[in-house]
Amino acid sequence: MGTVLIVYATRSDETKAIADIIGEGIRISGHNAEVKRVSEIKNEEDIKGYDACIFGSPTYHGEMITSMKQLLFMAERAELSGKPGGSFGSYGWSGEAAGRIFDTMNHIFKMNMVSDGPLMLKAAWVGGGIKAAQEYGKKIAAMI
Ligand SMILES: Cc1cc2nc3c(=O)[nH]c(=O)nc-3n(C[C@H](O)[C@H](O)[C@H](O)COP(=O)(O)O)c2cc1C
Repeated sequence: MGTVLIVYATRSDETKAIADIIGEGIRISGHNAEVKRVSEIKNEEDIKGYDACIFGSPTYHGEMITSMKQLLFMAERAELSGKPGGSFGSYGWSGEAAGRIFDTMNHIFKMNMVSDGPLMLKAAWVGGGIKAAQEYGKKIAAMI
């Protein structure tokens, strides 16, 4: 059994809801999921030692939330190379954040990124979002 770290940034909790459901998908698959708000991560030691990592942020003004940018700078030193990874985020119309996070995990951290790409949902409860988020968690769990 592995343990997956899911870290989210959020302003109005839509991205938190997605994080929690991805965590459910991981647990349904028989693995542990630790879902943490980005403010709980103090340094790279808090990111090390997991079997997979999934990071998420909503998009505001075309960007991820600043605290998620800082998390990514910490994660650069967390020895994530080769580990399964994914990204997610709630958005309104353009949704750049999840893709930017995904690209950083892929190109800089050299993680084994899920073939689905980033999970972008307007909200967990809209248009099959709950199922999509659970499936995303299951797919990453299967890569452990
Ligand atoms: C001031 C403001 C700016 C926003 N800018 C964008 C944007 O550039 N692109 C986009 O797709 N959504 C944008 N949104 C929509 C948010 O991404 C959306 O409401 C999302 O569900 C918020 O997620 P959260 O609850 O996790 O913070 C914006 C929302 C607000 C209030």
